[in-house]
Amino acid sequence: MSKYDLIALNFTKARQTYHQHAIVQGQMSQKLVDLFTPYLPSEPMLKICDLGSGSNADLSQILAQEQQREMQLTLVDLVPILPEAKQHLQANKNIKQIEIVVANALEWCKEDDKSFDLVISNAMIQWIDKPLDLLQGIREKLLAPKGIFAFGTFSLANFKELREITQRSLKYYSPSQWKEMLHTAGFNVKAEHEYEKKLYFKSLKDLFQHLKLTGVNNLPQATKWNKQKLLDLYQAYESLKEPEGYPLTYNPLLFVCSIK
Ligand SMILES: C[S@@+](CC[C@H](N)C(=O)[O-])C[C@H]1O[C@@H](n2cnc3c(N)ncnc32)[C@H](O)[C@@H]1O
Repeated sequence: MSKYDLIALNFTKARQTYHQHAIVQGQMSQKLVDLFTPYLPSEPMLKICDLGSGSNADLSQILAQEQQREMQLTLVDLVPILPEAKQHLQANKNIKQIEIVVANALEWCKEDDKSFDLVISNAMIQWIDKPLDLLQGIREKLLAPKGIFAFGTFSLANFKELREITQRSLKYYSPSQWKEMLHTAGFNVKAEHEYEKKLYFKSLKDLFQHLKLTGVNNLPQATKWNKQKLLDLYQAYESLKEPEGYPLTYNPLLFVCSIK
């Protein structure tokens, strides 16, 4: 199974539970909308593309609620949107058109030229192996010349507890590494925001359940999990326990960019 098939499988399994359990991603979406709204182009009708929009399209749902302008939405994800989430968007009178694209964003953005006023993406880019390729694709193929690109991802301290214990992690980049990539891809950074949010769980079972229900499977794929190894993992996490419970740190990082 390819890496992207596995990502799609995990997020498909979490389709019904993601929205309720992805608390930090939901807050990130709201913060991202607040951060990019002052920079939106003035067109009366906005052409918007949401990359890695997810089963519920939470970021687009928030944007659609807050913007009083007409919009055309293109939602791109490995996993299709839930019918009820699509209906919720369709019920918004400002949304004139919804296009659903089930595809790998990295490949899709290399196809024909598009001309979006706004390209948004929340909590997706950290799954991409070559983020610079994606940034270049967005810059060259997706955005209109005066368009805005706004995204939320995670920085170095994300899931630091899991990294410490398993020595495995997605590849995260620091704010300055992101700025260098954005600069190389031809973007100007208009705004950025980084913060940390720790969640606490009563039990380790709850913590790992949280990861599963939000589509994140951070356990090392290459490891053959037997009872002893799981026991070791649980014991190592025990040493990180705080009075509030077992911690899991999120480290969101948000950027708003324009074309240079
Ligand atoms: C953590 S969810 C975020 C969903 C939504 N944007 C949000 O903020 O709640 C990550 C989403 O990115 C999608 N994804 C990951 N890699 C992708 C890729 N290469 N192309 C398209 N979608 C991808 C997953 O299928 C998943 O729905």
